[in-house]
Formats: sequence, structure tokens, C-alpha cells
Amino acid sequence: MSLLAIEDLAVTFPVEDGPDVPAVDGVDLQVETGEIHGLVGESGSGKSVTARSIMRLLDGAEVSADRFDYRGEDLYAKSEAEMRRIRGDDIAMVFQDALSALNPVMTVGEQIAEVVRHHGDVDESAGLLSELRRKYVTGTSKSAPSWRRAVDLLETVGIADPEDVATSYPHQLSGGQRQRVMIASALGGDPSLIVADEPTTALDVTVEAGILDELQCLCDEFDVAILLITHDLGVVAETCDRVTVMYSGSVMERGTTDGLFENPAHPYTKGLLRSIPEGAPSEDGQLATIPGSAPEPTERPAGCPFRDRCPAAFDACSDPLPEHVVDGGEGHVARCHLYTEGDDLGEVTWETDAAANGEATGTADRTPATEVTDG
Ligand SMILES: Nc1ncnc2c1ncn2[C@@H]1O[C@H](COP(=O)(O)OP(=O)(O)O)[C@@H](O)[C@H]1O
Ligand SMILES: [Mg+2]
Repeated sequence: MSLLAIEDLAVTFPVEDGPDVPAVDGVDLQVETGEIHGLVGESGSGKSVTARSIMRLLDGAEVSADRFDYRGEDLYAKSEAEMRRIRGDDIAMVFQDALSALNPVMTVGEQIAEVVRHHGDVDESAGLLSELRRKYVTGTSKSAPSWRRAVDLLETVGIADPEDVATSYPHQLSGGQRQRVMIASALGGDPSLIVADEPTTALDVTVEAGILDELQCLCDEFDVAILLITHDLGVVAETCDRVTVMYSGSVMERGTTDGLFENPAHPYTKGLLRSIPEGAPSEDGQLATIPGSAPEPTERPAGCPFRDRCPAAFDACSDPLPEHVVDGGEGHVARCHLYTEGDDLGEVTWETDAAANGEATGTADRTPATEVTDG
């Protein structure tokens, strides 16, 4: 049984004077116990909306799904009180911007200690009056179990001087330290799943690499699963066990990280792969990117949302997205009309030249699969 199993998720935002926004449309996502699962796609593809749907933090949106199970239980059948407990203890979220997520007038040690007490692992009162007295009068005693645990957690996430950092306020810390504090705070509730929405996007690459290393260690040490949301396939390659690729509200491809990087099947995935640093720079020395931009949710074409940018598009692409097992299985699925069930990948390649010349528009006379090669 998957830790998290979502099938056919749709999230729509009603808009007063305009068409409703179908932000996410038909997303399947499975996260297994203890894995790091990458959710990747360009900006606007629906990653954050999917993440917030897991926390049930989508006020005003219409959410529907055929299945939305966490540990085999329907998350959307839980009461709001049960959800509050789950959000604190079972599923934690880490955001890109720790400065706005942390309390500016509390030391980070206090904030983590509060999460630890709330979770109930330590023998200290976490009642309202005790918490208020700590917050406004005494502070947490430096010898209290919850404070010791907070310092331990800071050390666990790779903070070199955890005693000092625990007594610091968020604005006194660097961006990298703050992201580590957020991760420590998430661990304070001993969660089974951490949903991390672009946790390293605002950081420079060396700091980012350190934190991604730390996330991998945590998975092993705490047996926590991480849904790692990123727009950067390089981050996925470094960190993730499996990956789900999203584009304009839909899943385009999913598989193991190894399978997907060795044999990317969807032209969109191939396009993303060309744009990571390991990919070959184009002739003018720039990193290759996918020409054009994603459609607004209200202006998506019927069928495959990528078809207007896809150099391999042909007439079948206006049909609803299929689901094809590719590359000999291992859960490697491409939602692309180029493949028929069980076909090997043939010679399908992203056509760099046509794309670079801005010819990446859907054409009606293309034939699928093995006949689409770069010449
Ligand atoms: N509260 C909202 N109201 C209307 N549209 C929204 C809202 N939140 C997100 N969207 C739209 O949903 C789409 C997906 O957004 P998001 O999940 O934030 O993308 P990503 O995280 O992949 O960059 C975007 O087109 C965005 O404009
Ligand atoms: Mg986002």
C-alpha cells in the first residue's frame, strides 16, 4: 500500500467574473513509505496546488478525486480536527520562503520545542496555559526535554552550532540556516511525509546541495517520505528515487529517476532534460529551453496540453491523454500518443532544430512513434 495514493485529482478555482481556473486536471500521484519522490515541472504546472491539496489547504477551491488515500484512509473524509492533527504530526510542509513561515518574534528553538511538545513525545505539559506562560513569561527551560530535542533536531539537519542557533530569531539566520530550521521543525512532529515545496529554490547552489544531501540522510535515518517539489530536473537527478513530471495541470510521465533519466519518453520530459546543466548547450552557448510557454489553465487545447509546443505533435494529440507503460515497466508511464502499450521507445527524439526555429507547432500530418526522428 502506498503511503499516499491520489487518483484523478482535479482542482478548480471558481472566479467571479471570468471562467473558472482548472489548475489541476486528472493527476495521479503515489508516494511510497520512505522514498524521496520528485514532483517536477515548469512554473504554473500545478505542483503547489497539488501539494496544498495534500494538506487540504485550498480554501475556496473545488477539489475532486477518485481516490485520495493517506495510509489507506481517505484524507478528504477526515474532520477538520483530525486534519489539524495530521498536519502537525503525520504530514509536515516545508515552503520555499522560511522567513514568512517562521514566527519573527520567537527564537527558532522555541518554535521547534513547541512542535515537539505538541506532538507529545516529551513529558511536558503542552496545555494552553503552560504554552502561554512559556511564550510570554518564562520561555522554554534550556534543560527541558523539548528544548534538548529542538537542539538535537537542529544538529540533525546539519546546523553546526545548534545551541546558538536555537536562541536566534529567524532574521538573524542565513537563508540556508532558515530552510534547515524549517526542516527541523517539520521533523519535530515525527511525520511520515514531508511535503517540501521548492525548499531550496531561493538558495545558491552550494547551500542547495548541502540541504539536498541532508534530506537524503533524513529519509534513511527517520524513514520519512519526502515529496520534493521543484522546477529543476537537476535537483531530481541528485535527490529523488522516483519522479512525477507535470505540465499545465496534468501528469506527463512518471517512473524511477534512473529509468526516466536514461530513457525519457515524453517529448516534454526530453525538453526539460535538455535544459539542465548536464544537457548540451545550444550553439550560441545558452542552455536549451523549450520554446514557447505553457498555456493558461483556461486556454489549454483539448487533448495533450503540450501539443502546441511539441515538435512531435500529430493529429491524435487532440484526443484525451493516454497512459502507456513504456521502457519495460518499473512503473514507467508516459502520457503521450506517440507510444502504444508495450512499444519500446524506438528513435523518438526531441527535434532540436525544428524547436529552435520556432517550428514547434502541432502539425496534422505527422505519423507517430518510430518515424519521428531527428534528421
Ligand atoms: N488561488 C488561486 N486562484 C486561481 N488560480 C490559481 C490559484 N492558485 C493557483 N492558481 C493557478 O493554478 C495554476 C497552477 O499553479 P501552481 O500550482 O502554483 O503552479 P506551480 O507550483 O507548478 O508553479 C496556475 O495557472 C495558477 O495561476
Ligand atoms: Mg509552486
